[in-house]
Amino acid sequence: MKALITGITGFAGSHLAEYLLARGNIEIYGTYRARSRMDHISHLVDQITLVECELKDPHAVDQMIKLSRPEQIYHLAAQSFVPTSWNSPADTLMNNIVSQLHLFEAVRKWDVDCKIQVACSSEEYGMVYPGEIPVQENNPLRPLSPYAVSKIAQDFLGYQYFQSYGLPIVRTRTFNHTGPRRGEHFVTSNFAKQIAQIELGLQPPFVDVGNLQARRDFTDVRDVVKAYWLALTHGEPGSVYNISSGTTRTIEEVLQTLLTFTTANVQIRVDSKRLRPSDVDVLLGDSSLFQEKTGWKPEIPFHQTMEDLLQYWRSI
Ligand code: GDD
Repeated sequence: MKALITGITGFAGSHLAEYLLARGNIEIYGTYRARSRMDHISHLVDQITLVECELKDPHAVDQMIKLSRPEQIYHLAAQSFVPTSWNSPADTLMNNIVSQLHLFEAVRKWDVDCKIQVACSSEEYGMVYPGEIPVQENNPLRPLSPYAVSKIAQDFLGYQYFQSYGLPIVRTRTFNHTGPRRGEHFVTSNFAKQIAQIELGLQPPFVDVGNLQARRDFTDVRDVVKAYWLALTHGEPGSVYNISSGTTRTIEEVLQTLLTFTTANVQIRVDSKRLRPSDVDVLLGDSSLFQEKTGWKPEIPFHQTMEDLLQYWRSI
């Protein structure tokens, strides 16, 4: 079996590559860009085929699909940091929407028989009212950032290409996920990195934070990539599924959990630059549809994920 992972050099992509390799009998192709950092997959390069491909370039995507002819595509490549989408909204929309369009068009053109997973996001739900929690897939989408709009477009393009052309696309709306290799700007990694630096005396004993009152539903990335595999092997093409733990915690609780793993004495300091023009207040997902369809269950407890993440920042 041949699987293609767009964004294989990234956080989720590198974990998915490890997961598929461990399953065995899967030939893995992955796309990267000239400026991609390779450190997350340097231990895997002998076991995978890397193809340089700027997904915004239709010709590059066309040639990459013609060459790889995958049976599964995991489309993970994206501009995925919400604050960047306010600074560069056009780039976020181009990156996330147009790249996916190129992928779908190349699959159609070369008549490639493959299932496609589209990495959508719980950010699409945006403003969620108290009576709507835990949020189900049929909840209205009320985006609160350009990033969320880009993910809604990816989501709906997936729906439309399934309806119009019968492309077997499964959309996954993943809630927050984290673990080792999470990019340093995302909240869990950012706090863990600051704590690791304070431990080494590389930063004064202040942890800078933004909005600690937001609530998020976190799953370990290693559980999430397993869900992506199950989405393509057991999910229904044309469907959309929430992938979430079903537990919500404030960002303050996240920070407090990390602090239980250190003896460093730290003070918490609000940095107004970390506050957003609008922030999603609460995310809590109902993933029962996906669990019933695929048998998936998140297995790694949150405190373990946090401990592993802090260990990761101590080790690099
Ligand atoms: N990044 C960051 N840094 N966030 C902070 C900080 C800080 O210092 N302090 C508080 N927060 C709050 C943010 O305001 C937000 O409410 C929450 O922590 C989580 O922020 P992020 O880790 O940046 O993630 P996100 O929820 O905006 O988006 C992530 O989850 C989505 C799924 O819901 C990303 O991974 C997206 O790509 C993903 O789609």
